[in-house]
Amino acid sequence: MPHAELHYQSGFGNEFATEAVAGALPQGQNAPQKSALGLYTEQLSGTAFTAPRAVNRRTWTYRIRPSVTHKPFVEIGMGLIRSGPFNEAPTPPNQMRWNPIPMPDKHTDFVDGIVTLGGSGDPAMQVGVGIHLYAATASMRDRYFYNADGEMLIVPQQGPLRIHTELGILIVLPGEICIIPRGIKIRVDLEGPSRGYICENYGLPFRLPDLGPIGANGLANPRDFLAPVAAYEDREGEFRIVGKFLGRLWEAEIDHSPLDVVAWHGNYAPCKYDLARFNCINSVSFDHPDPSIYTVLTSPSVMAGTANVDFAIFPPRWLVAEHTFRPPWFHRNMMNEFMGLVFGEYDAKTEGFLPGGASLHNCMSGHGPDAETWEKASDAELKPVKLDNTLAFMFETQLPVRPTRFALETKILQHEYFECWQGLKKHFKDPTK
Ligand SMILES: [Fe+2]
Repeated sequence: MPHAELHYQSGFGNEFATEAVAGALPQGQNAPQKSALGLYTEQLSGTAFTAPRAVNRRTWTYRIRPSVTHKPFVEIGMGLIRSGPFNEAPTPPNQMRWNPIPMPDKHTDFVDGIVTLGGSGDPAMQVGVGIHLYAATASMRDRYFYNADGEMLIVPQQGPLRIHTELGILIVLPGEICIIPRGIKIRVDLEGPSRGYICENYGLPFRLPDLGPIGANGLANPRDFLAPVAAYEDREGEFRIVGKFLGRLWEAEIDHSPLDVVAWHGNYAPCKYDLARFNCINSVSFDHPDPSIYTVLTSPSVMAGTANVDFAIFPPRWLVAEHTFRPPWFHRNMMNEFMGLVFGEYDAKTEGFLPGGASLHNCMSGHGPDAETWEKASDAELKPVKLDNTLAFMFETQLPVRPTRFALETKILQHEYFECWQGLKKHFKDPTK
């Protein structure tokens, strides 16, 4: 899997235009009476036709066959994939943490390797999220996948993913993320055992957050997002398409590769982003800012300033705040915080939160630094410190994340997680006594 071979188009939500064969893309119109090279014309709409221009997403594809050419879908087993309304089991208000999911000991492709930890809302209502882990050992062969329930923000933690999409190929390494928009078909190749996280966003597509007084630049800059160039498979055989629709998996036979788009133009496209490009902004005076300062992407809800889901990261950065408790403060939140760790250590937890692991602190459940971190940070000399070799992230959601039965019963659930705070001693000295 050579990583440098691919070309990309730069920018977030641009009007991209790309053709794998010269002359495949029509000029001056979208739907000529006859498309060049005998291709079919098909529009893919990622928003309502009438969505405001600034958020309207659609792409015109010029493909070997239209997407409708397949046999009927039949329902197949879901394995450990679950979807909203996530009512398998009561949701406890406990703080929860999981160890990394073990690698499967049998042939498991990307789709078979998806395990749902929890989620919120309902794909039928286009609100909420599904939060999944994946652990896979094999490339997808002769089958393809699309998700009608949501776009997928994929956060690899181990192993590169080579994602063949309808609109071209993305190679996504640990430390990078990618977005596969709702409906776009993919086939995922692996180099070896691979693991990571998926935020399946049932709501409005992820967009870059507004910057307010930060100004025109900073956080994730649009030019650092990379979309693929057109690449197609002209391949016939006995293949299957697996679709996720209304929380269930469906499979159809297809006698050709659906990744047969020879040219496309539009702004509804997969993309990838190297999290090392994130321009991290932090306090240079005092106090630990709210973690929203680390928002990479946001999916707004209908309530202003309250995201269906925010994707925030905690990358390497300098800590320079004076007379300040520097790790994250103790906190209870109306929003709901699911966290993962790509590599290194997270600054609020010295032990127990492992790369590939996860934690969940739901609505109004207390959380914060563990006892050891609190003691250390309360007495630390406040010289400038570089937090290095660390990459944690958060999916912060408006609606509480309801764990699946798997998440509550699995051996990787850390039942002893609460103990990390039990050593927080009473220090109060009442001056009146
Ligand atoms: Fe928090």
